[in-house]
Formats: sequence, C-alpha cells, structure tokens
Amino acid sequence: MSQPLSIVILAAGKGSRMKSTKTKVLHEICGREMLYYSIKAAREITDDVIVVVAHQKEAVIAAMEKHFNNITFVTQEADTFPGTGGAMMGVSPKYDDVLVLNGDMPLMTKNSIDAFMNRESDVVMSVIELENPSGYGRVIIENDHVVRIVEEKDATAQERAIQTVNAGVYAFKHHVLQTYLPQLSNDNAQSEYYLTDIIALARADGLSIAPLTVEEVEFKGVNSKNDLANAEMILMDRLRRTWMDAGVIMQLPETIYLEEGVKFEGECIIENGVRLCGNTLIVNSHIKAHSVIEDSSVKDSDVGPLAHLRPLSVLEKTHIGNFVEVKKSTLTGVKAGHLSYLGDATIGEGSNIGAGTITCNYDGVKKYQTIIGKNVFVGSDTQLVAPVEIADNVMIAAGTTVTAGKYESDILILSRTPIRKVAGFFTKFFGKDSSC
Ligand code: UD1
Ligand code: CA
Repeated sequence: MSQPLSIVILAAGKGSRMKSTKTKVLHEICGREMLYYSIKAAREITDDVIVVVAHQKEAVIAAMEKHFNNITFVTQEADTFPGTGGAMMGVSPKYDDVLVLNGDMPLMTKNSIDAFMNRESDVVMSVIELENPSGYGRVIIENDHVVRIVEEKDATAQERAIQTVNAGVYAFKHHVLQTYLPQLSNDNAQSEYYLTDIIALARADGLSIAPLTVEEVEFKGVNSKNDLANAEMILMDRLRRTWMDAGVIMQLPETIYLEEGVKFEGECIIENGVRLCGNTLIVNSHIKAHSVIEDSSVKDSDVGPLAHLRPLSVLEKTHIGNFVEVKKSTLTGVKAGHLSYLGDATIGEGSNIGAGTITCNYDGVKKYQTIIGKNVFVGSDTQLVAPVEIADNVMIAAGTTVTAGKYESDILILSRTPIRKVAGFFTKFFGKDSSC
C-alpha cells in the first residue's frame, strides 16, 4: 500500500572515485544498475519517487525506464548548483514527509526505509558508528542533539577522529527543505552546496534533529570498484538465500553467481560454480557444475557440467552435456551429450545430437536457421550448413557435412570420403619399424 511519503533519490553525481567513463549509479550489481535497487525499494513504499539526474542523464533515464514507469526525473542544475544540496533545489515533492536517499546505496531495503517514518522530529538523519569512518561526513552531536555534519574534506584532524558518520539518508518535513535549501552556501572545500549543511542551519533555529542509528550493511555507500564488488557479494548472498528458502537446492552456494532477473520454479538443483544471468528461468531442472546460462529458459531438463546456454535458448525435457554451446535455439526432448555448437536451431522430440555436431549458422554476413524434426539421429562430427531443414525420422551418418537444403523423412544422409590405405607409409615416413 502506498504511503504519504515522497522519496527523493540523488543520482546526479559523476562518482569520480569509480574511475570510470560510466556514471556511478549505472554500474551493475547482480546484473542490474545499482540505482535500480534504490528505486525498487522506494516503489514498494510510495507512488511519489523522484530521481535527481544530471551527469549522463539520458542514459540514466533510459536505463530506469526499462524497469519502471511513473518515476519523476528532475534535472539538477549541476554547473550552477553542484552538490547534494544543489540536487534537491529543483525537487517538488507531493507529500509533506520527504525521504532523501543517495543513489549509491543499493543494499537498502523497504524495512530500513520504514524505520524513518512516523517520527515527530523536523529532521531524522541516519548515523552509523564506524571503526574506520574515512570517506563519510562526520556527525557532531552535543547534548544528544545533532548540531552539524562536517564533510571529511572540510574536517579538522579532531573532527576526522569522530566515528559517528552520516549514512546519507534523511527524512525532512517539506517546510524544512523550503526554508533552508535557499540558505545553503558553497563556501567549503569542494565549492558545493551540501545537503548536510541544512542540519546546522535548522538546529541553530531550534528545530529538532533526531539521529537514527542504522545497520552499516544496508546503508553502505558504493564509491569505488571495491565497494561495488562488496555490495554485489552481499546482494547475491541475499538472492541465494531467498531462492533456497523457496526450495532451490544450491551446492556450495557461495560459488554460484546469480542475477536479480533469474527465477526458479519447482524443484531445481544448482551445482557449484554455475553462473546464471539475465532473465533466466529454471523450472524443475538440474544445472551441473560450472555451466553458464544467459537469458534462457530451461524446463524439466539437465544441463552441464561445463555447458553454455547463450541468450534466447529454450530447453524443455532436454539433456545437454559437457562442452555443448547453445544459442537462440529451441530444443524439445533432445539429447546433446557432448561437444557441440547448436545456434539458431529448432530441434524436435526424440532427436539425438552426436558429439562434435556443429550448426554452421553464419556465412560471414548473415545468420541462418537449422530445423531438425523429431527422432533424427545426428551422427558424431556432423556439420549442418544452414539454412538446413531435416524432416522427422532421419539418420545422419557420422562425419557428414549436410549442405544447405531440405531433406525429406525416412532417409540416411551420408557424405564420406572413401578410405585410402597406403601400405608401408609409416616406416617410410618415420624411418623406423612400425612395430616399435
Ligand atoms: C554524502 C554526504 C556525507 C555522507 C555520505 C554517505 C553530502 C555533502 N555528504 O557524501 O555526509 O557521509 O554521502 O554515503 O551530502 N549527487 C547528486 N548531485 C551532486 C552530487 C552528488 O545527485 O551534485 C548524488 C550522487 O549521485 C550520489 C549521492 O548524491 O548518489 C551522494 O553523492 P556522493 O558524492 O557519493 O556523496 P559523498 O561524498 O559520499
Ligand atoms: Ca557516497
């Protein structure tokens, strides 16, 4: 149910500490941009989600519109009003209670946001106690009141020693923002308008500012590639636990790579070292060690070990063994046990694909389809030069190159070079007796 709370997510900064040409909030964690997770948590709470953008704003908006609709995007005038305070200046929230989140906190959940609600203070701000507070704004508390936040770059050595830090989430009454945003100055080390300076201004006027101590793990800001990797480990651990709770068996779960878009149904077993990406759906299937599956659907099947399903593969009642690569193919009731490449193919029930079978789907310019009917026995080391269409009940002899064309039912297809035997060749070539 939607709550009367506006949530503003700040996503306009560059994130220079990421050392990347891509803006920070578009860096991915478990296959989705980190900003996706903040918006997802916010959308579970309210209909008024406002995202402030500036740096690479077209890319940020396009990426988020793939996942959500009804998000309000506001552009920060980042050249004139840089900083987190500048980011809030163009925002018009719908409700009187306004929660502000940094867009680089992908581990926040709805529960942590809920803790900020229904409090009486004019401002509630998140604080964490950290052994190593470096990188965060320090929170100055006097007589149980937050009086000021000082950014690390502006802090004195004494202030830098403070271990109570600003976690970067605030609940404001709208009037507090309206009164104090216009009073912010950029007279600081970064020449930016800091949202955090509102605290000192409001406190000086006697407003109530309540610190809310929060869990470090949920409020961790991602500022570097190391932070990105750590956040991904935490999020992936949550994903794996959720799916195990839902009945999925995972062997050595910490070795399994799993993305946000992956779904399971029924009874599934996922062995160690498996990588499941994109919008993959696994239903009643067994995925064996070290297989990689991307944007594919696998039902009532077993895959691997060491198999690779590339995007848009659809498997049903199928067995895929080791070193088989499948791409954009539909396999129903098929056995492909070893060492094959099946691309742009449709293969029917009861067909057996011998080891070393290759669909030659690409002529260097275009891709072509291979269609194999039911009960087709494809012998080992067959090349299918697409476009190829093979009717039901056909046998292809081992080592055959099936050239492009249509092949009718109930035939044997065979292309083999006749064997030649050259007597005495070994001894002549190596200059020694062939028996030694
Ligand atoms: C900010 C806080 C700091 C706090 C920390 C918690 C300020 C001044 N400092 O610092 O006290 O400890 O978060 O993680 O707020 N952004 C904009 N426009 C801008 C600049 C930033 O939208 O002009 C966005 C960024 O995209 C990012 C968020 O605001 O998502 C925070 O910016 P960042 O530069 O990471 O702030 P910190 O230095 O971490
Ligand atoms: Ca940050």
